[in-house]
Amino acid sequence: MIRICGYLLSLILLIGFTQGAAAADAIQGQTLAKRWCAACHVVAADQKSGNTQAPPFSAIAKMPRFDVARLALFLLEPHPKMPDMNLSRSEATDLAAYIQSQGN
Ligand code: HEC
Repeated sequence: MIRICGYLLSLILLIGFTQGAAAADAIQGQTLAKRWCAACHVVAADQKSGNTQAPPFSAIAKMPRFDVARLALFLLEPHPKMPDMNLSRSEATDLAAYIQSQGN
């Protein structure tokens, strides 16, 4: 009985852990966007203006070729007109999820 409980517990922990690691967090992405991206991009509907060269996140999300996975990868690479922000994989995924949410 104790052994079964142990198995169940580790199974629950394992599921919880893998889901936590895989699920992108758009709320976290919003915090990151306001900190790192708002100087140039309009990152939220309540932001008045950014740098005129940088597309607003809502426009990025509405691009026909928009793809959340491709965006997360793009954010991991240094980009010519953008500073290299040294984002971690999960930060890039969170940001991509947040940008996607701005297209609605
Ligand atoms: C120093 C200003 C600056 C900062 C800070 C910045 N960007 Fe940009 N970003 C730009 C500019 C300018 C472009 C347009 C690049 C071009 O036209 O080649 C751009 C383009 C992009 C694109 C590409 C859109 C497309 O055409 O596919 C994405 C996505 C993007 N930025 C996301 C971000 C995210 C996420 C952050 C914060 C982590 C960020 N940017 C921070 C200036 C900035």
